[in-house]
Amino acid sequence: MPAQGSCTVIVGCQWGDEGKGKIVDVLAEGVDIVARYQGGANAGHTVHVGDSQFVLHQIPSGILHAGKRCLLGNGVVLDIRQFFEEYDALVARGIDIEGRVGVSLRAQLLMPYHRMLDKAAEDSASTKIGTTGRGIGPAYEDKAGRRGVRVADLANPQRLEKLIEAAKEKVCDRLDQLGAGATSELDAAMDEALALGDRLLVLATDTGPEISAALRDGKRVLLEGAQGTALDLDHGTYPFVTSSNTTAGGAATGTGIGPTLIDAVVGVVKAYTTRVGEGPLPSAFEPEMDEHVRALGGEFGATTGRPRRCGWFDSVLSRHAAQVNGLTGLAVTKLDVLDTLSELQIVTAYRMPDGSVTHSFPADTWSLAGVEPVFETLPGWESPTGHVRHLKDLPANARVYLDRLEELTGADVQWISVGTKRSQIIPVD
Ligand code: IMP
Ligand code: MG
Repeated sequence: MPAQGSCTVIVGCQWGDEGKGKIVDVLAEGVDIVARYQGGANAGHTVHVGDSQFVLHQIPSGILHAGKRCLLGNGVVLDIRQFFEEYDALVARGIDIEGRVGVSLRAQLLMPYHRMLDKAAEDSASTKIGTTGRGIGPAYEDKAGRRGVRVADLANPQRLEKLIEAAKEKVCDRLDQLGAGATSELDAAMDEALALGDRLLVLATDTGPEISAALRDGKRVLLEGAQGTALDLDHGTYPFVTSSNTTAGGAATGTGIGPTLIDAVVGVVKAYTTRVGEGPLPSAFEPEMDEHVRALGGEFGATTGRPRRCGWFDSVLSRHAAQVNGLTGLAVTKLDVLDTLSELQIVTAYRMPDGSVTHSFPADTWSLAGVEPVFETLPGWESPTGHVRHLKDLPANARVYLDRLEELTGADVQWISVGTKRSQIIPVD
């Protein structure tokens, strides 16, 4: 038998910002390859190494570990200018990334006009999504509309020019329709982005065959999700979602490996809930508590700086996430943020607008906006946990809380994060 590698998906189980970056950074130590499978520069993965903080938008969080190969899969919409800004910033901070980053030939290029369209569409929409303004929706629209530009096209200047000209014509019409007008800066932005094409081609690879071959060679692979289950285009709170499949199924289509190569799916949940952007948040705190926990957890968007709305842990959503992703384990993050609270609540069910009680996540987002959460109350532990490295050393009430999350979610807790530092992690056997 040939050596058998391992392939684990790391997926967000709420509305993003669960701390996937930190978990990937910790797990990256033990793997050879880390690959992103969807999204683009809308993601903001914050990782702390020593006293330094890194916010990664497109390059996988594994990059901060020497020697690990980091890939951007075909499911990603790659903002080429922003990508090289991030790349060069890592080099400037002394990270040796030469030869370590690979970009799928099949990945879509996110162009400056996608950002313009994103902003113009949001500005003129009656139902705003609260996007990050990074052009994500329009880029995936072009992909599904079969008029996108892919990394592979950069190698063929004539074809590239034709594709871009056709796209620009459409974009200008659309911007006019949206009343956004002024596209004067578009040409300069396009020239700047396309000038980086040759540099990008040097990094190009076909991620499916590369990852599959690595697994055959016994290598270990992490597939890093961005955003979260409730932002998944199919399984989230549509239309208040991002435009890609953030869930575990997306890890196969977004990198080009077969789903049978995936061995484990670790769902990351914050010990409470946050949401940035528009759309319902059933477990939302009352205003005073919202402000309090936002301050305790530093809950401001890593990409946009927007304040995140905060709420209690929602097990209706975490059960949905366990089902959609086929979770084999959980990583619970930011437990320490709850250290000072005297009482905690967990949402166990929703009372629907018609009075019925449901334990499953409704497909109808509009009804979700009107649900009343059913809470279970647990005592707080009211003592610090940031120094704890073993499960047995956690305060008893913290363990009770974690046991309940595990039970209600239906997946075993495998890691508990109790702070931003790499060392602040409790592995659970
Ligand atoms: P888009 O992905 O920029 O189109 O934004 C769509 C929705 O997803 C908005 O509610 C955003 O706030 C949210 N979103 C996108 N990326 C992230 C993320 O990385 N963390 C949290 N929310 C995100
Ligand atoms: Mg984030």
